[in-house]
Parts: sequence; C-alpha cells; structure tokens
Amino acid sequence: MCGIVGYCGKEPAAPIILEGLKCLEYRGYDSAGIASICDGEMLVKKDAGKIDEVERKQGIGCLPGNIAIGHTRWATHGAVTQANAHPHSDCHGRLAVVHNGIIENYQQLRQELIDRGHHFTSETDSEVIPHLIAEKMEGDSYSLEKAVLAVMPRLEGSYAFVTLAIDDPGKIVGARKNNPLVVGSGSHGNYIGSDALAFARHTRKAISLGDNEVVVMTPDKAEFFDAAGNAFSKQPRELDENWANNCKDGYEHFTLKEIMEQPCAIDRAALQDGKKFNSIALDILRAGQVVFTACGTSRYAALVGRYLFSRVGKKFSEVANASEFGYFVDSIDKNTVVIAVSQSGETADVIEGVWAARDVGAKIVSIINRPNSMLEELSHHTIYLKCGPEVGVAATKTFLSQVAVFYLLSFSLVNAFDEAVEHLGDMSGKVAEAIECNNSNLINLAQKLKDKNDFYYLGRGINFSIATEGALKLKEVAYVHAEGMPAGELKHGTLALIEQGTPVVVVCPDDYTYGETLSNAMEAKSRRAYIIGVSDRESDIFDFWVEVPRVDELLYPMVTIVPLQLLAYHMALARGYNPDKPRNLAKSVTVK
Ligand code: AGP
Repeated sequence: MCGIVGYCGKEPAAPIILEGLKCLEYRGYDSAGIASICDGEMLVKKDAGKIDEVERKQGIGCLPGNIAIGHTRWATHGAVTQANAHPHSDCHGRLAVVHNGIIENYQQLRQELIDRGHHFTSETDSEVIPHLIAEKMEGDSYSLEKAVLAVMPRLEGSYAFVTLAIDDPGKIVGARKNNPLVVGSGSHGNYIGSDALAFARHTRKAISLGDNEVVVMTPDKAEFFDAAGNAFSKQPRELDENWANNCKDGYEHFTLKEIMEQPCAIDRAALQDGKKFNSIALDILRAGQVVFTACGTSRYAALVGRYLFSRVGKKFSEVANASEFGYFVDSIDKNTVVIAVSQSGETADVIEGVWAARDVGAKIVSIINRPNSMLEELSHHTIYLKCGPEVGVAATKTFLSQVAVFYLLSFSLVNAFDEAVEHLGDMSGKVAEAIECNNSNLINLAQKLKDKNDFYYLGRGINFSIATEGALKLKEVAYVHAEGMPAGELKHGTLALIEQGTPVVVVCPDDYTYGETLSNAMEAKSRRAYIIGVSDRESDIFDFWVEVPRVDELLYPMVTIVPLQLLAYHMALARGYNPDKPRNLAKSVTVK
C-alpha cells in the first residue's frame, strides 16, 4: 500500500518519477505528489486524486530538477486530502519525505515534537519522520543519512521511506523496516521504488534493501549501510525481461489484458525446476502437518491446492486465513510445513504469520509472483509464478498460475512432476477456448444482470474454491454483493435469501460432484432463482449455460474460473466502474 519512487541522475527527474508512480498505482490511488530540488530550492506539488488527475491539476511531472521523490497513496491515517498527500516536509520546508507503512507510535512522537515547537500540517502518521530528521540535521548538524540512522530506532511499526534535503543536496536517502524498497542502478542515474516495476523501463539491475538498512543514492552510486552506519556492498539481481512490460497492449483495461494472458500464463507457470519441486514434495510428505496461509484470491487458490494435495498426494492439509493464522501458532512446530501463497510477497498478514511460524521452527515454502519480495527473504523454498506483472487490482492470471503450481506440486507428491507438466501443456488451448466461447455471451449476461444486488456462487469439492473466487471477483470490481459457498451449505441458512430472479452461479463441471451440485442448484431454482450453470455438460436446470471445455477433473478450475472473471469484468463495465482500480482497495496490502 502506497508506492514510493525516487530518482537522481542526469535526466529531468519529475517525468521519471511520474512514470514510475503510474507503474505503482496498483499500490494505492487516493492521492499523489512529487518533491524535487532545483537551484537550492525544495519544490513540492501534491493533491488528492488518481495520478492522472493530480498531474492535470498540479502538473507534478513538470517540476524542474534532476533529483526528486514521489508517492501514490492509499490512506490509512488521515482522510484523502491535499494536506495528507505525500511528500511531507519539516517546519521550514527544507526536506521532504515519502513513506509507505504505519508509524505505530506517531501520536507520542507528534506530541513530543509539538512540545518542542514543531507545527504539523497533516493528520498523517508519516509527517513525524521529516520533523524528526530535520531536528537531527539542524540541532546536531548531521548529514541526511546520519539523521535518518538516528531517527530509525525511534520509529515503531513498519516503514519504507525516502527523503531528500536542501541542506544536504544531491542525494536521496532510503530506509526500510518491514516494507519493500528496491534500488535500481542505470547508466543515466539511480532509482529507488517500492517495486522494481517503478524503474524497470530504465534498468533491470535491482537491489532489494533489507530491514533496518539504509541506502544513500547519488547520481553516480548507491551505497548501503547497516543500522550502526557501517557500509557494506550488495550485488544487483537482473530482473526478468517479462517484468518490464507494464503496458495495456491495446486492451481497454489491465484486468482484461491479464485475463486474456492466461493461456500464456499457464505455459510460463509450468516452466519449473522438477528437482526443486521433488525436494519440496519430500518436505511436505515428511511433515507432521501442512498449512497454507494466504489472503483473498491467493487463499482461494490455496483451497484448490488443499484439494489437490488430498486427492493426488493423499496428504491432508489445512488452509488458514492469513490474518487469523497467527492466533493458531501454538500448534505450529518444526514438523510443520507452512505454504505461504502471495502474489505480491508482501501482504502484511501473510508476512506476520510466516515470521511467527519461522520462530517456532516451521519450514516455509512460498509461492510468489513479484520478485525481490520480503516473503522470499523469509522462506526456505520459493516458487515463482513467472506470469509477469499483474497490474489490475483484481487477481486473475496469478490465480490461474497459482492453481497450475499446485497441480505440479501435488503430482510431485507422487513423484509425477513430468506427467503434470505434460498435462498442463494442453491447458493453454483449453483456457483460450473458454475465453473465446464465452466472452460475447457474458457481455449480454452482464447487461441482463447489471442491476441485481446479490449473487450466490455454489460448487462442491475442487469447484467450491472457484465459487468463492468467482464471488470475490464480482464484489471487487463490480461492487455487487456476492457469496461463494459449498453447494451443500446453501440449505443451512443462505437459502432464505433466495427469491425470484436471484442469480445463482453453479460451478458444476461434469465430475463426480455434478449430480449433487445440481440437486443443490435445484433447491435454489425451486425458489425461482436464476441459475447460471458453468459446466461442460448442459442441464435443464440452467437458465443460462456458460459452456466450458471438457478437461480432466483436476484441471477444471482452470477453465471454470475464466468465464467468472469475464463476467465480473463485464458487470463492472455495465455498471460504469473501472475494473482496474476498485474503490477502497489496493493490490498490495502491507498493513494489518
Ligand atoms: C484479489 O483479487 C485481491 N486483490 C486480494 O484479495 C488479494 O488476493 C489479497 O490481498 C492477497 O494478496 P497477495 O496475493 O498479494 O498476498
């Protein structure tokens, strides 16, 4: 949540920052701002609104200077206003800070600073940082980096921040604790961002800052310091070429582009190292217990994983909601394998649970999309999804890639990794077919249902997870109340809500759950629900048939989820919403 970018070099900085902020808008889009230094003056422009709006109103991309920092905000402390937008400054406007995270002891720090004569202009927790740094620079004549190092121990909570100051010009200083910060070095200068996506067009050489580390960036170099101020060196890692592509490629929205990329995403997810999978499989088989921890879509993918582990590998596992996982750590030990599933690799709820599990000796396997993440640093094994950046806030291609990885992992449990790769080889064509057959029909269905307020999604076994994920997509992008549940659960309460015309989406491919799921659908139909069947086998019960290709039972999730993503997308458009940037949400949720 919140995106940070910084640049110092030979080029005009603000346009680079603006472009970087647009690449990070998935992290928050309430407000934005840039600070630059030019001719010894600190220039700050910021406002509430999405980046394009702020650019239109304030011209943030036109600020002069070759050194600048910028921010795109997802509000935590303080309303969405111009005053609360970043960058924030000290009393005299001599330094500027952009921050991602939460300073938990900000009230105490703020009061102390007010008592010492400081004036605050925002309601944010972040504003204490520039005031604290300024005190050190003014009172103790510290350099910017020395002041940052002195202030860090005073900050409780989590942060990644970058700062620049007119009293120590020509440099950007960045610091991190439990929030990501990545440094990029290029031939025209140095870059810093919450995600390498912010500068991937300029350089693919990226260095992740570690917790309690500080970077001092000048146009020519980036130097790293530990919390005691000792310099040390870090080697850059080359970013995957795929990671630099951040364009819509002619699609109206990233969400649609990413849905359409799914046939290719399966092929990429299957490019895994069989030896590594076999070694992880051995750990899983030997473990006393296996627990998945994840949030949102990643958790629904983990439900598919749990099913596959049981059905293929005969290994029971449990799926924990990451925000609740920490409360069960009493029963985690060194015989536990924790499988942390996170597209971003930085979801705070996931990270916190993983820390707790590591502390008691559990083995951590992570399944991540974004490179250089904190979750990778905490893991014993990391599997990458390899599907490139997902910019739409609603996860689509990463869900399918997670499911593909679980398919490979479950077959590895029975020493059949190669067989699984072979099966996945046919799936990209099937997923493409699921898209082609349904896209235009779903536009019509969305038009028909766009004014409905409640949807219910049903499925059994492996299809239950697709029901829940389908419902989440509709909530997120179309702002329609939707519930996904095991089909058998409907009659235990929710049936009371079904009335004439209530849309009920029934995920019922022609597997061994088909008959029972249809019986549950019939219970809804008898109350005059409007039944949308997602299946390769037609039924009289369906009022609308979403036909999917016939595939093996264990691969159905890959073809059934796709039309549900498309339905949510077209519902968003039919209701007049931008599916890429749902209200109140951010893609990376780095607060608890
Ligand atoms: C999915 O569409 C959502 N944006 C959200 O539920 C997301 O899956 C969740 O926040 C977890 O994110 P992660 O995979 O990056 O950990």
